[in-house]
Amino acid sequence: MLTAKRILLVIGGGIAAYKSLELIRRLQDRGAKVRAILTRAGAEFVTPLSVGSLTGDKVFQELFSLTDENEMGHIELSRDADLLVVAPATADLMAKMAHGHANDLASTALLATDKRILAAPAMNVRMWLHPATQRNVGILKGDGVTFVGPNAGGMACGEFGPGRMAEVPEIIAAIEAMMVDPAVSRPLAGHRVLVTSGPTREAIDPVRYISNHSSGKQGHAIAKAAAEAGADVTLVTGPVGVADPVGVTVVKVESARDMLAAVDAALPASIAIFAAAVADWRVADIAGGKLKKGPDGPPALSFVENPDILATVARHGTKRPRLVVGFAAETENVVDNARAKLARKGCDLIVANDVATGTGTFGGDANTVHLVSSEGVETWARQSKDEVARALVAHLARRLAGA
Ligand code: PMT
Repeated sequence: MLTAKRILLVIGGGIAAYKSLELIRRLQDRGAKVRAILTRAGAEFVTPLSVGSLTGDKVFQELFSLTDENEMGHIELSRDADLLVVAPATADLMAKMAHGHANDLASTALLATDKRILAAPAMNVRMWLHPATQRNVGILKGDGVTFVGPNAGGMACGEFGPGRMAEVPEIIAAIEAMMVDPAVSRPLAGHRVLVTSGPTREAIDPVRYISNHSSGKQGHAIAKAAAEAGADVTLVTGPVGVADPVGVTVVKVESARDMLAAVDAALPASIAIFAAAVADWRVADIAGGKLKKGPDGPPALSFVENPDILATVARHGTKRPRLVVGFAAETENVVDNARAKLARKGCDLIVANDVATGTGTFGGDANTVHLVSSEGVETWARQSKDEVARALVAHLARRLAGA
């Protein structure tokens, strides 16, 4: 996959630099040619000798080195690569990148490049969570830098939380994803994809409603990932605070019945993904005016069942999308309940997630999902909702292609 690809690896100064040695080997296993820049701080953790022995090349370290500049100037160094990988990307290196500093070879090469950059941050959890670092991450993402990790876990400094550099296989996967041919990276070109997202609101009276905690983050991320994969995407969403994804047709609805009508109008589609948290019930008699407090105590609400949008589409006959994907939001027996939903609703795949209190699944930025289908159960490691979305879209594109 990486045959003859030229990777310029920038090794920053962090304990995770030892993983970069392994990264060099694994990239070479895949046919890549790796060149390395070792920062001064990086050289405190791994030696130029070990890096050079692995790359089989000179290790570039100094900006003002006459020999280095004669052999390969810093501009050529970055231009000669297909991809720049910063691993570990320290807080300092990221701050320099975000603000355009060029006071050493690494920052200069990163500023001088017109190639894509992948950063694998590694630092103490407080440094990672510090507003300054988070601001820099936002700037770099805006500049088009791709991130892999950091992961959460125990750290060399004894603390626990996000800040561990992504593992080598994760960095390799991110590199491969960035290096694929655009024709391959837009596997859903020519396909229509329908996604539902967010909560529904079921009115009690003109001022009150019943709803749930869905923020729309997961569903919107899926719509965005499908559009990036080349699909013509319609997103039917309940009321949410997240921004509309770019390049997607967005239809805004309130109730489950509105959502069903909008979904129906958006068909046909090759794939339909139901990530919305739809209310199972609605109030039987919506009051025409605001319910008033009175001597008789609170009103007794009675409920009727809402239409099941997923089950309706899965049994649509001629208008059934080739792939119908439901979600299952569970607080216990996640996989068993998802298996039951798969059968009951007649869909091809259920993405099950735990929404129990404390999981942060509703409204949070990360998710742990289990893919439940007739072929079995696949559990994915906890990752950001954007990563879940991209991986799910890639999975569905493969299924659609019959791979
Ligand atoms: O929005 P976030 O804050 O990012 O949170 C994401 C999420 C937790 C909402 C999402 O990952 C998720 O799990 N969505 C499904 C929520 C849900 O309603 O699950 P359920 O197990 O109650 O429903 C099963 C499936 O049937 C879902 O695909 C749902 O969209 C669908 N359904 C349910 C009821 C109904 N009347 N019509 C439906 O189509």
